[in-house]
Amino acid sequence: MRMSLLRSASQHLRRRRDYSSASASPERKVAILGAAGGIGQPLALLMKLNPLVSSLSLYDIAATPGVAADVSHINTRALVKGFVGDDQLGEALEGADLVIIPAGVPRKPGMTRDDLFKINAGIVKGLCTAIARHCPNALVNMISNPVNSTVPIAAEVFKKAGTYDEKKLFGVTTLDVVRAKTFYAGKANVPVTGVNVPVVGGHAGITILPLFSQATPASNALSHEDLLALTKRTQDGGTEVVEAKAGKGSATLSMAYAGAVFGDACLKGLNGVPDIVECSFVQSTVTELPFFASKVRLGKSGVEEVMGLGELSALEKEGLESLKGELLSSIEKGVNFAQES
Ligand code: NAD
Ligand code: LMR
Repeated sequence: MRMSLLRSASQHLRRRRDYSSASASPERKVAILGAAGGIGQPLALLMKLNPLVSSLSLYDIAATPGVAADVSHINTRALVKGFVGDDQLGEALEGADLVIIPAGVPRKPGMTRDDLFKINAGIVKGLCTAIARHCPNALVNMISNPVNSTVPIAAEVFKKAGTYDEKKLFGVTTLDVVRAKTFYAGKANVPVTGVNVPVVGGHAGITILPLFSQATPASNALSHEDLLALTKRTQDGGTEVVEAKAGKGSATLSMAYAGAVFGDACLKGLNGVPDIVECSFVQSTVTELPFFASKVRLGKSGVEEVMGLGELSALEKEGLESLKGELLSSIEKGVNFAQES
């Protein structure tokens, strides 16, 4: 009897501590643009579960009232509101600390990410114009493809509006890291929870460069052929899902997970939690390319440090040289579109 009383008192205290730590963390508004889509819905769910979020704004061109009503019933801290259509975009964005953008069309089998440019470039441009107007200080996490071009588009829109801060714009490449970790753990036969693998470059085909020579825990069980196969599988991970879905879109659930991991890291950085490091496609001087994905330290105003590549294997050096041409042309395509339209 006394034991069960003690147990229930300690559970009560633990609950109080959990509550007080959540309520002690600052108010943070997160807006998701494209919130009714395949990524948007599970991402909305995961951000609603994040105790760092106090306000969750769900925006789409259709169907957000239903998604917001559904997610809002979950008994967690974030207050959820749905916004639909152009007229409500400003209100959705007002006061946002973090804007996550999974708006736009996904691939079908046989398409490249660049085939999405025609439609998604315009969508991203419109949304970023509204961000510049309504929440110019927010961090922006770009998920919409082709990321190698949509991030430069966003940068140009913000430059035109006079609000560009390179520390606040991120291309979300976390799914490449998530895949590299999973595939590496499987091949090296190590528990996936402790695995880390940096992925650098960009987010399309050969521009995705996993650095398995820096994977932790290190493994000497992998042959050159294993490393080639792991690299190829990471680069083709998106296509693997597109083909398996056979016309019903691309990765949504794993992307929502990856987006939630990266969004959480951004919020922790904003809140001053030290040593938050994630890979992301950002403005960079790590190579001669103006945007490049590498490890980034996150802080109170976004990017605190763009970290270098570290030592690369011969295979990775070769991969780095061969990705530069394609990545540069995707970046230039984005910049030209934003400057000319
Ligand atoms: P989806 O079609 O299921 O959802 C997209 C949503 O965007 C829809 O609800 C649609 O109504 C909305 N939308 C369209 N125009 C909009 C606008 N102007 N404003 C607001 N919302 C708008 O697609 P999805 O599977 O969720 O994928 C979305 C995007 O994410 C695609 O471009 C896809 O290629 C990309 N993606 C990126 C990664 C990555 O690693 N960065 C991973 C997976 C998918
Ligand atoms: C992915 O990597 O899954 C996304 O970029 C979607 C796609 O088109 O492959």
